[in-house]
Formats: sequence, structure tokens, C-alpha cells
Amino acid sequence: MARMIHILNGPNLNLLGKREPEIYGAETLEDVAQGCAALGKELGLETELFQSNHEGEIVEMIHRAREEAAGIIINPAAYTHTSVAILDALNAYEGPVLEVHISNVHKRESFRHHSYVSQRAEGVIAGFGVQGYSLALRRMAVLLG
Ligand code: DQA
Repeated sequence: MARMIHILNGPNLNLLGKREPEIYGAETLEDVAQGCAALGKELGLETELFQSNHEGEIVEMIHRAREEAAGIIINPAAYTHTSVAILDALNAYEGPVLEVHISNVHKRESFRHHSYVSQRAEGVIAGFGVQGYSLALRRMAVLLG
């Protein structure tokens, strides 16, 4: 059976494609889900993509991943910069964690420069647009061997 990777997305990413396209691009989260599913097949990985606008729900998604996923790719969106609860949940997860940001957060406002999640992530991708998700998936395949 192919190993399962959960791709978790935080607030406002349901609006991807419509929201500030000059920053986040024209592709939707559904496009990301489909692209990752197709690439996952090539890499021998199964992928499931989730999105929530609620911090507690993201914590619960991470708890579910403890039972179901060999690795987590996460774009916590604004919670990246605020959420100790998401960091704690990720610290309770045993597999590899990769952090993705569509935009280059380091080129933006200073409040986006700090990430709680980066303390836990094996690697961070920022500023590669939605291509960051497929790059993270390729890296995940290497990490899982
Ligand atoms: C983001 C960057 C965050 O600062 C922002 O709050 C987001 C999206 C990104 O993917 O570039 O919602 O995580």
C-alpha cells in the first residue's frame, strides 16, 4: 500500500486563486490537490489535502495524521506566525514535517518572518508559488526513502 501524506492548509487558503492573485497566483487549492495526487502516484505516495480556517481543527487534523499519515506537508498560513498550539501538535507527531509558503514570507511584512512551525519542520519552502507543494512532496519521498 502507498504511504499516505497529509497536506494541511490553514486559513484563507480555501480562497486560493481568488485571493490576492498577485501574491498567491491563479491556481486553486483543488488544482494543488490534483497536482499532488498525480505526482504522488509517480513517487509511490498517496496524498490527501485538507484545509481549515479554524486553529483547533488544524490541531485535530495533525492528531489524525498521527494515525494515518507517514508525513505531513503543512502551510499553516497566518497561524504560522501565531500558533503555539499547532507547533505543539506537530511536536506530538512522529513523522517528517515539511513547511510550505506560497509567497516569499521573508520579502514581506516583518510579522511574517517568524514561524513557530519552522522549529519542528525538517525543511521550509517559501516563494516558489504553488509549485512549493510538489517540491515538498518530492522531498518527502526522499525523506521516507
Ligand atoms: C502564506 C504566508 C502567510 O504569511 C499568510 O498569512 C498566508 C499564506 C503563504 O503561503 O505564502 O495566508 O502561508
